[in-house]
Amino acid sequence: MRRIIYGLLFVLVGACTETPAEPTGLVTKNAMVVSAREEASAIGVEILQRGGNAFDAMIGTELALAVAYPFAGNLGGGGFMVYRKNNGDVGALDYREKAPMAAHKDMYLDSSGAVIPGLSTKGATGVGVPGTIAGIFEVHRQFGTIPMEEIIAPVIELVETGVRVTEKQAARLEKYWEDIIEINGDNTLFYNKCKVGDTLRYPALANTLKRIAKNGREEFYSGETAKILADFIQLKGGYITLEDLDGYEAKWRQPIIFNYKDLRLISMCPPSSGGVTINQIFKMIEPYDIGNGEHHSARTLQLFTEAARRAYADRNYFLGDPDFVDIPLDILLSQGYIDERMDSFSFSHATPSEDIHEGQVIMAEHDETTHYSIVDQFGNAVSVTTTLNGAYGSKLYCDELGFFLNNEMDDFSAKPGVPNMFGLIGAEANSIAPGKRMLSSMTPTIIEKDGKLWMVVGSPGGSKIITAVAQTILYVYEFNMSMQEAVNTPRFHHQWLPDEIVFEPGEFSEETKDELREKGYIINETLTPIMGKVDGIRILSDGSLEGGADRRGDDTAVGF
Ligand code: DON
Repeated sequence: MRRIIYGLLFVLVGACTETPAEPTGLVTKNAMVVSAREEASAIGVEILQRGGNAFDAMIGTELALAVAYPFAGNLGGGGFMVYRKNNGDVGALDYREKAPMAAHKDMYLDSSGAVIPGLSTKGATGVGVPGTIAGIFEVHRQFGTIPMEEIIAPVIELVETGVRVTEKQAARLEKYWEDIIEINGDNTLFYNKCKVGDTLRYPALANTLKRIAKNGREEFYSGETAKILADFIQLKGGYITLEDLDGYEAKWRQPIIFNYKDLRLISMCPPSSGGVTINQIFKMIEPYDIGNGEHHSARTLQLFTEAARRAYADRNYFLGDPDFVDIPLDILLSQGYIDERMDSFSFSHATPSEDIHEGQVIMAEHDETTHYSIVDQFGNAVSVTTTLNGAYGSKLYCDELGFFLNNEMDDFSAKPGVPNMFGLIGAEANSIAPGKRMLSSMTPTIIEKDGKLWMVVGSPGGSKIITAVAQTILYVYEFNMSMQEAVNTPRFHHQWLPDEIVFEPGEFSEETKDELREKGYIINETLTPIMGKVDGIRILSDGSLEGGADRRGDDTAVGF
């Protein structure tokens, strides 16, 4: 009954909705790429201008990020792509890393069963089998329209001419310099510190890319590059073998699709938790009309927080690699279950996280990433989040090949109940097993409104990805912001455990925070390195595109 009343109210309110916000970000008529670096967005756009489609541009942008943004862009990591073609077809590609065959459940524990610090995060022992090269070749095989050599050529040119070091990049390299040298020794390319304005060139990477352009996917998984890579990782004490590389495959999967009011959201399915968790959050808040108030009022913050708290508790317990565990998606995403999860919610006080556990489900049996969004001149859309996990991944840099390797193994739950580097606590569903993919929070998302493409959006930020993406969508849809304004707007986060709301420091009013404290919320305003870094595109009513490039990084929208 309650839902029928809210539904009627929505129709009435919807009838007099205000006109969409005027754009404040870059507006272009035909096509756009928004990514973490201008150089990468420009290469994506160059491919589009040569007649390529969004999928061709995805390949160029992904590789260019490995050059211009090695902090997260990668050949040695993995990611997820959600797409929507101009005919409305949607799908998702999983090129997530997986555990090597030598991996086992207790591989990061000492003899007393305690997690050994650093083993899953630093150096060769934390590296998962990379998926990025398999991903781009699979995208090309399925949807590519221009030859791979032609797509890779401008990236090789970028590697050879070099990339200008920005202020933010210099600061990041400085911050992680000691770790990089500790892992790689003094002979690594990064030993020579770079300053703002220097040009960074990676000759070894140019050679690797030339071999990949010539020999294709096999070069990386069974060719010369594979041999160098497997030998290097093993020499450094890691587990990945030539067989692990040879056995890697990217997988097409069914995205998570759900409606929120008159939006239709298409997002990433397991092994990412992103789609399931935003689906739960949106469905939990839907009956309360979150837009009926101010975007940073105590009421808005409270409603979102309580939904996130409950959704993350489910995420951490139920989700893992669907090829290894049964995930009760039909129950977790059913309206009855979601309504029941919110039964304990009240605007009068916080629900302590210790009172929240995973929901009752009867089952048959169980810091660094980057996002880019692309819309092409044909109306195809691609939303991709790709990662090395930590900043520069495991910090292990293969000088001979010219790229960093991930530390994605830390996204597994090394031991039930012990938090990973994002403070996420996992359970059996995300325990380590040979060949298994580790659970992710990446949330590449595409949204339709009235059956038409409306937004392409996503973010890095570890566990904060999901809340950053959800808030950006709500800022535009419920609070009538432009794409750029929504991306700029300060964000907050709650992930069940630890039981605290994390705020971007200095951005939320004291009055609101006091009101929340009075209701029992714990507030954390210490500077977290990243509260998401959202790159999105909004399609305006005349069909032109508005970019939202995150001011928190060097992110840039380019288009025509
Ligand atoms: O897949 C995941 O959820 C993490 N490996 C993402 C890491 C990340 O976003 C780090 N960026 N700040």
